[in-house]
Amino acid sequence: MALLKVDNIVKDYQMQQGVFSSGRKYIRAVDGVSLSVEAGKTLGLVGESGCGKSTMAKMIIKLLDPSSGDVFFAGNNITNLAEKEFRPLRQKIQIVFQDPYSSLSPRLTVQNIIAEPLQVFKTGKKEAEERVRDLVVQVGLNERHLERLPHQLSGGERQRVGIARALATSPELLVLDEPVSSLDLSTQAQVLNLLTSLQDKYKLSYLFIAHNLNVVRYISDRVAVMYRGRIMEQAESEELYKNPRHPYTKLLLASMPSLDRSLRQDKNKYIKKDKEDTGHDLSLGCPFANKCLQVQPQCWNSKPELREIAPGHRVSCFYL
Ligand SMILES: Nc1ncnc2c1ncn2[C@@H]1O[C@H](COP(=O)(O)OP(=O)(O)OP(=O)(O)O)[C@@H](O)[C@H]1O
Ligand SMILES: [Mg+2]
Repeated sequence: MALLKVDNIVKDYQMQQGVFSSGRKYIRAVDGVSLSVEAGKTLGLVGESGCGKSTMAKMIIKLLDPSSGDVFFAGNNITNLAEKEFRPLRQKIQIVFQDPYSSLSPRLTVQNIIAEPLQVFKTGKKEAEERVRDLVVQVGLNERHLERLPHQLSGGERQRVGIARALATSPELLVLDEPVSSLDLSTQAQVLNLLTSLQDKYKLSYLFIAHNLNVVRYISDRVAVMYRGRIMEQAESEELYKNPRHPYTKLLLASMPSLDRSLRQDKNKYIKKDKEDTGHDLSLGCPFANKCLQVQPQCWNSKPELREIAPGHRVSCFYL
């Protein structure tokens, strides 16, 4: 059974209306996304900046209410649970944020940052201190880090503190919102290795968000590719990289930097060179229509649903 299941979720952000503005009063950041994370597995969620990844993350951890659709955790529909009803489950779903600098309180020591989620669950002082000492070691830091403030840590150390804090309540699911994007390449690799070993040790399930397909490749069992609020393609990780089908996935793969000249691809193979204004409202049809080389009249006015084209391989396109 899936530990996390998101069913046809939508998020509209209300926009402030100025005196002279007209037209739509909201931005649809997430437009009917369904996905699931199996127990002990990792789903990679990839897409470019602004496609709605963090909005998805916030709806899953109930920092934001969806406009419609449902979120199920371990079979329970948590979408409309009040804070009191959700509290016992909150410790099971934790998040590691994109930017550890802004997500860790600058005036709290590492000790207090990691202990904070434990206070919510009324853990005794001594028990909390022991738990924090254990957690810093688990994430590859040591007791000397406990008295430091976030600005006295390196970026990699800060992200390790974010991970320790997320682990404090012994969660089952971690939503990792671009956990390594702000780090240099070698630190990225170290933090990814840490996440992999923690997953093995504690049988954690991960929703791993990234804007780069390279980052999620080795850590994910399955990958979902998101574009302008919709899932374009979803498959087992190996299958997606070997046999990408959606033109947007192909574009993302071609955009991955490669040192090997022969592997560098011409992005224009997958995308219209001139992005002329077609006069179409992209919210009515396929969000990729204005860039797609195979665009057909239908693509402008109806949205393709995710369709299974091979076992476990789903694509959102009328013509694949
Ligand atoms: N509070 C908000 N009010 C209005 N619009 C918002 C709000 N938060 C996000 N948006 C808009 O919703 C869309 C999705 O934003 P989101 O932060 O989910 O993207 P993202 O995929 O996480 O991007 P990034 O990779 O840059 O973190 C964007 O167009 C963004 O401008
Ligand atoms: Mg984001």
